[in-house]
Amino acid sequence: MTWLITGGAGFIGSHVVKAMAEGGERIVVLDDLSTGRAERLPDGVPLEVGTVLDRDVVDRVLREHAVTGIVHIAGKKQVAESVAKPLHYYRENVEGLRTLLEGAVEAGVTRFLFSSSAAVYGMPDVDLVTEATPCAPINPYGETKLAGEWLVTATGRTYGMATASLRYFNVAGAATPELGDDGVFNLVPMVFERLTAGEQPRIFGDDYPTPDGTCIRDYIHVEDIASAHVAAARRLAADPDASLVLNIGRGEGVSVTEMVGIIQDVTGRTDIEPLVTDRRPGDPARVVASADRIAEELGWSARYGVREMVESAWAGWQLRHP
Ligand SMILES: NC(=O)c1ccc[n+]([C@@H]2O[C@H](COP(=O)([O-])OP(=O)(O)OC[C@H]3O[C@@H](n4cnc5c(N)ncnc54)[C@H](O)[C@@H]3O)[C@@H](O)[C@H]2O)c1
Repeated sequence: MTWLITGGAGFIGSHVVKAMAEGGERIVVLDDLSTGRAERLPDGVPLEVGTVLDRDVVDRVLREHAVTGIVHIAGKKQVAESVAKPLHYYRENVEGLRTLLEGAVEAGVTRFLFSSSAAVYGMPDVDLVTEATPCAPINPYGETKLAGEWLVTATGRTYGMATASLRYFNVAGAATPELGDDGVFNLVPMVFERLTAGEQPRIFGDDYPTPDGTCIRDYIHVEDIASAHVAAARRLAADPDASLVLNIGRGEGVSVTEMVGIIQDVTGRTDIEPLVTDRRPGDPARVVASADRIAEELGWSARYGVREMVESAWAGWQLRHP
C-alpha cells in the first residue's frame, strides 16, 4: 500500500510518519506548512506542499503517488481560536476533510484513518470515557471533529472504504527534541513557559470534585499515538470492512497538581509555587479514556508514562528556547 499522510509535517503527523516509515510503509506527505515544518520529515519521505482544500492538488497527489490509503491528520486544533473563528474551523476541518474524501472516493482509495479528539465528548460525567459515552462537544473545534467522524463513517459505509476515527486524549512528549510541539496550548508547554520566565505556573481551579480539587486528564505520549496509528493502518489494510472508532489514551488520570509537580521536578524549578486562580469556563473535572476497545481491536496499549512525556517534551522545549 501507499499511504498519504496529511499534516505529516506537524507535531503528531511527523511522529506518525516516522513510525510508519520505520514500520516499512510507503508514504507521501501532503501539508500546507501553516503550522508544520518540512525539517520534521525524515529523508526519503516525499513532501507535497498544498492544502487538502484544493481538489486539484488532492487529485494530483493521489494519482501521481498511486495512493491506496490515507491518514488524515491535517487540521486546526486550538479550542479558543475555534470559538473566535468557527467558520474558519468548519472550513479547514470539515470542508477540508470532505474535499479529501471526495478525491479519495474518485481515486479508488480504500483505507482511511482520521485524527479525532476527546473533544467530541465535551463534558463527560463518567469515570472512564468509553466510545459509547454520548458525544456532546462544547466548542466548534470538538464539533468539527465529530462532524468529521460522521463524514468518514458514512463515506466508508457507502463507498466500501475501511475507516478508523482515532480519538486522541491529551497528547504530550516527543520522540526526539526536534519533533516536539511548537505550540503553547497544552498544560505541559504552558507550565514550561511560566517556569522558564521565572513566573508561577497557573492552576485553574482547585475546587473540582476530584481528590486534590484540580482537573484530571489522561495524558498520552505522542510516540504511543504514533504506534496506535501503525496498528490501525495494519488492521485497515487487513480488513476491508473495518469501521472503527477508538479512544487513544492510557486509561489513567493525572491531576493538574500532580502534573505541575512532575514538571517542576523535571525542570528543576521546585522553588516556584503554583498559583491557583479561578476555574476556566468549559473545563470538565475529569476526562479519562477507557482504553479497552483499542486493546481488544488492535492489541495496542500505551508504553510510556507521564514522566517520560514531560522529560522528552522538556528536551524539545530547551532546544527551541535556548
Ligand atoms: N495535539 C493534541 O493534543 C491533539 C489532540 C487531539 C486531536 N488532535 C488532532 O491531531 C491533528 C494534528 O495535531 P497536531 O498537534 O500535530 O497539530 P499541528 O498544528 O502541529 O499539525 C497540523 C498539521 O497540519 C497541517 N495543516 C493544517 N491545515 C492544513 C490543510 N488545510 N492542508 C494541509 N495541511 C494542513 C499543518 O501545517 C501541520 O503540519 C489535528 O487534526 C488535531 O485536531 C491533536
